[in-house]
Amino acid sequence: MIQAVRGTKDILPVDITKWHYIENIIRNITERYNYKEIRTPIFEKTEVFSRSIGENTDIVNKEMYTFNDKGGDSITLRPEQTAALIRSVIQNNLTNDISTLRLWYLGPYFRYERPQKGRLRQFHQFGVECIASPNPEADAEIILLANQLIKNLGINDYELQINSLGNEISRSNYRNKLVEYLTIHKNDLSEESKSRFETNPLRILDSKDDRDKSIIKNAPKIIDFLDEESSKHFESVKNLLDSTGVKYKIESDLVRGLDYYCHTVFEFRSSLLGAQDAFGGGGRYDGLIKQLGGKDAPAVGFAMGVERLILILDSLNVFNSNESKCDFFIVSSNEKYYSTALLISEELRNLNYNVINDLQRKSFKAQMREADKSGAKFCIIFAEDEFNRNSILVKNMKTGEQSEIKIENIKNTKF
Ligand code: HAM
Repeated sequence: MIQAVRGTKDILPVDITKWHYIENIIRNITERYNYKEIRTPIFEKTEVFSRSIGENTDIVNKEMYTFNDKGGDSITLRPEQTAALIRSVIQNNLTNDISTLRLWYLGPYFRYERPQKGRLRQFHQFGVECIASPNPEADAEIILLANQLIKNLGINDYELQINSLGNEISRSNYRNKLVEYLTIHKNDLSEESKSRFETNPLRILDSKDDRDKSIIKNAPKIIDFLDEESSKHFESVKNLLDSTGVKYKIESDLVRGLDYYCHTVFEFRSSLLGAQDAFGGGGRYDGLIKQLGGKDAPAVGFAMGVERLILILDSLNVFNSNESKCDFFIVSSNEKYYSTALLISEELRNLNYNVINDLQRKSFKAQMREADKSGAKFCIIFAEDEFNRNSILVKNMKTGEQSEIKIENIKNTKF
């Protein structure tokens, strides 16, 4: 038997209602905030991601599905949307006649990570990007949108963590101080952090290793190195969240795994998830558009993992898996009924009903059992006497009540 690739998952019919539930709420919320959907190809030229996410990040270094196509071009399956979306925004001049560009997306993404609960190699993200506003109101708007979405899904048990990485000057001052501090402790760092020390020291703050954690605890905090502009931005974001009643926790070691961020960064975490407890994350990325060759424009956004949302909703028993959509099951146990059965099915479908026909030529009894199993509200039964009178029997599967209806009247019957 050929198995699916490790870290990928089929979304089976029994689970699809969960996806539809989330997708409907996404469409509803994004519409209320006037965000427009965008869909970009699932693969891009590799440089779209290597130049934006950062050469020294785990994503670019270890996790990208990169290959040379038959023409010799280096292609990468998208590990995230932000960089690819910005490529599209620049290429299609989407910021031209618009003051603030608001976009959302939902689709599959690919990262070669070690699979575990809530961590896949093909996973799905929903995300939004708000482009061309440098102001804290934009940061607040997308956090409010995320919060609305989470609440509308029925999730209350979560924490919003925020931090500021400041502007480039603040970050560079901080980086120097952090390297100074870590140099003293370098020999005690985990192997992974030792190598990050050379390439991307800020990422050490994100380490889950206990040795690193005890060192990080006393490390200088970026918040203490924010210059006036950066502090002002962060204060405003916090004030806007306070005044709109959004609860958050300041997490001074939150740095995120992608290099394009500045100023506000944030993550949504839930204790219902286990080790992979972040179900969403984002932040401001003011330099990215210019870095990818566009006209300088600030931006802020976030993305959420749909599989992780489903794990949370599953643990809250939000989904009712037994719900049946079938209105009519048609029982026709003799060849002479088949054409009329199909005709009636089509008439009912034209009236928007959900109809199932037996396609196995089973016995009457077996078809009745099947009708029961299908959860159909009504069963239409073909029987000798009734058929001779140009009628069928309609059985209400809940009450057991049966009534004879003339075939020509089915269209006008109120069920
Ligand atoms: P990210 O934190 O890398 O951010 O991913 C966002 C979310 O995607 C995570 O919080 C998680 O729920 C989900 N996710 C990531 N990797 C996996 C995986 N291997 N399996 C399952 N779920 C996963 C970004 O991707 C940024 N582009 C977010 C952003 C948008 N920043 C600004 N705009």
